[in-house]
Amino acid sequence: MFLINGQFPGPLIECNKGDTLVINVKNELDEDTTIHSHGMFQRGTPWYDGVPGQTQCGIPSKSSFTYKFKVEQSGTYWYHSHSRTQYIEGIVGPLIIHEPNDPYKNECDEEIIVLLQDWYHTDAKTLLATFLSPDSQGNEPLPDNGLINGHNSFNCSSAPEGSDCVSNAPLAQFKFVKGKKYKLRIINASAFAAFIFSIDGHSMDVVEVEGMITKRHTVHRLPINVAQRYSVIVTADQPIDQYFMRAEMETACFPTQSDVLNPLIKAVVTYDTYKCSTDQAPSSTAWSDDVENCVDLKASDLKPYKDQKIPNPTKTFTLEIDFRPDENGVVLAYINNSSYKIDTDNPTIIKVYNGVKQFAPDQNVFMIEKNEIVDIVLINTDGGEHPFHFHGHTFWCLGSGESGTQPDYNSLNTKDPIQRDTATVPANGWIVIRFVSNNAGVWGFHCHIEWHVASGLVAQFVTQPDQIKRLNPPDEWKTLCPNSFNSNNSSN
Ligand code: C2O
Repeated sequence: MFLINGQFPGPLIECNKGDTLVINVKNELDEDTTIHSHGMFQRGTPWYDGVPGQTQCGIPSKSSFTYKFKVEQSGTYWYHSHSRTQYIEGIVGPLIIHEPNDPYKNECDEEIIVLLQDWYHTDAKTLLATFLSPDSQGNEPLPDNGLINGHNSFNCSSAPEGSDCVSNAPLAQFKFVKGKKYKLRIINASAFAAFIFSIDGHSMDVVEVEGMITKRHTVHRLPINVAQRYSVIVTADQPIDQYFMRAEMETACFPTQSDVLNPLIKAVVTYDTYKCSTDQAPSSTAWSDDVENCVDLKASDLKPYKDQKIPNPTKTFTLEIDFRPDENGVVLAYINNSSYKIDTDNPTIIKVYNGVKQFAPDQNVFMIEKNEIVDIVLINTDGGEHPFHFHGHTFWCLGSGESGTQPDYNSLNTKDPIQRDTATVPANGWIVIRFVSNNAGVWGFHCHIEWHVASGLVAQFVTQPDQIKRLNPPDEWKTLCPNSFNSNNSSN
């Protein structure tokens, strides 16, 4: 697998709101790479968004590149390679930005990062090749296991013969001190699986969703789809003992369920004065099932901490998703009948610099020339749900529906919706989201299931192209694409 600074998951990147973040990447892989800071606005620095084919050319093998941007947000984020399947292979880590005016500051004694992942025992390149062949019939590779902060155990009797399997690998351990309050920053860095997260015996108060501070909302089981994040406050108020922390894969949403060897991922929370004989597992019981499968935590249950005024839309895009076999029998994903193909050596932003106004249909470009309030109506005719992420922005979650692919406009919440950067469109359903387009750049809008990125479930929004041209990218960035950058356009 791939490591960052010799570590997996990658090292914590942590700063304060207002800081300038400098990420030096030294690429020791035998292939090119990129690093995307998931959820960052990159205002004024759209070329540092880290998306090959959209905002940069890859950082070549054995070379270096520096990302440098101002952080105007706070909250729970993550970073990952945006190149091929590299984040499944290990190029991933947490990114936390502290808020000096956090209203919950005095209600938390300590922070704990909980990075959830699904985990495959076959290497991702092999899995991808199978997935993009007619044999898969579009069924995604199912994970073998999952991890909490890089740890879990596995029953070696299920491992292929001759493989290096360690049966008694330790679970991730978390220490609680009785009476203390913990802020858990929960990140789902999976390739495919949504999880339901819980801690036996402990309730959790949601206080942040993807950078937006919310009113307290108490849950026992927290659904978290791929690329989503939440902060929850947990009080160590239970009897001194040890408890399981659980991340249950939502196998109910998988196309087939037979292949998941270990869908229940565990870690252990131990109160510091608890005395146990070694190897004794917690005897705690799980919370009973109380959430709906395969949809986000109800947006209507979450309220922004601060009141907001939601502007009226000035522009609407309707995007319709479907999956079907191409002429070779390979099942691809389509947005408005077009399956995205990455143009690796000619990123869209460079085309914008070079004055291009028309893009090939397989680039799935949506153009927003000036400052607008934009609604995206996302219609899903597919039988699976999709966690859609928008780069460079947060959006208001105005509404979603699980039955029928026609939005119910009367049900939209334009009064107090939450904002986030990754929302799930239900199977055979729809979502309506709204954002303010005031951040010039090329912004990916895609399903964050890594297999679906490869099958083309990707769009890009080009916002304020004239403004993009007035921003001047650094020379180091231009040298990544020596052939496509037209120097006549580079210096105005
Ligand atoms: Cu987590 Cu296109 O990103």
